[in-house]
Amino acid sequence: MPTLATTVDGLRFPNPFLIASGPPGTNSQVITRAFREGWGGVVAKTVSLDASKIVNVSPRYAKLHAADGKEVVGWENIELISDRPIKIWIEEFKKCKDAHPDGVLIASIMEEFRRDAWVEIVECCQDAGVDGFELNFSCPHGLPERKMGSAMGQDPEVLSEVCGWVAAAARKPVWAKMTPNITHIEDPSRAALKAGCHGISAINTIRSVMGVNLETLRPEPTVEGHSTPGGYSSVAIRPIALRMCAEIATMIRSEFPGRTLSGIGGIERGSHAAEFILLGADTVQVCTGVMKFGYGMVREMKDELLRFMEKHGFDTLADFKGRSLGYLTTHAALVDMQREKKADRADDGIWSGDRFVEQSQALAG
Ligand SMILES: Cc1cc2nc3c(=O)[nH]c(=O)nc-3n(C[C@H](O)[C@H](O)[C@H](O)COP(=O)(O)O)c2cc1C
Repeated sequence: MPTLATTVDGLRFPNPFLIASGPPGTNSQVITRAFREGWGGVVAKTVSLDASKIVNVSPRYAKLHAADGKEVVGWENIELISDRPIKIWIEEFKKCKDAHPDGVLIASIMEEFRRDAWVEIVECCQDAGVDGFELNFSCPHGLPERKMGSAMGQDPEVLSEVCGWVAAAARKPVWAKMTPNITHIEDPSRAALKAGCHGISAINTIRSVMGVNLETLRPEPTVEGHSTPGGYSSVAIRPIALRMCAEIATMIRSEFPGRTLSGIGGIERGSHAAEFILLGADTVQVCTGVMKFGYGMVREMKDELLRFMEKHGFDTLADFKGRSLGYLTTHAALVDMQREKKADRADDGIWSGDRFVEQSQALAG
């Protein structure tokens, strides 16, 4: 029987399924619920020292539905980090650890570009007993207007400095959470690892405008008749997340062997987790999926991942972590490989007029 248990940066997870920072980890009640339902760990909603600066608007979500009008494939949010005071969070972190001493609880933290602030938030969270840190360098809305979140994640120099401060103050593993709103995600990831972070989490949401209401002509989500670009999540972003995780994992393999990766973005099934692990992830995180289906979804995810492992004869996650990375190569290499085969095969005629259209339609299903 294969096992889903895994140890990452010294943290012992019963399975690789973690709650991602967001509404599903927004207070001690829901965090303890997640542990009870069997999640491998929880990354709590991002906290900061001064919650009075965090002012949310409503509505702050907008959804993109599939053609059936039912399935949610994309989700935009303009929600900020937690607006609950740090004092309350510290009490709740303690409460969660008392109730579930073996549950891996990771504090997601964000601060302004001040060493004192980062050191203070690290110290008070670790005194409360959290098992690790995730540094939110990736929220793409609201916070960047204060030079926080993705504004830091897009600047490897600033990020490197902050990671250095945190690495020096933290006695627990530190993951840096990356923004996808950047051309080369390896650059800030490399800076974070070089500065002493143990691992990378990727990805946060993709900057987006969900749509425009054709009656009111207002972009959505609409707040007092106006909107602002927000963060896009859910299954529609999974291919982008897979690509970015593969790029980070390839960089980790060659430059920082032993460092770790937590894959995030559109994960809703055990098979999705298998794909992220095949492309180099150690753990996976789920946010919008939990908002759509509830905490109990983890049971079927675990079963499906176990079935995949059984089918392929993998006993542990390590048996297949990164297995598919070697099959991603350059386009030029694909051309060479195909050229070698071409001699044996008739031309597929993809460029010949009507057949191109027919083949495209067949692919679209
Ligand atoms: C409503 C909402 C709030 C979020 N809040 C946070 C947050 O406070 N901190 C953070 O690091 N990421 C936050 N995220 C990003 C998620 O953790 C995750 O990186 C992203 O949504 C992609 O994963 P998913 O497709 O499973 O949702 C939030 C996402 C959503 C949808």
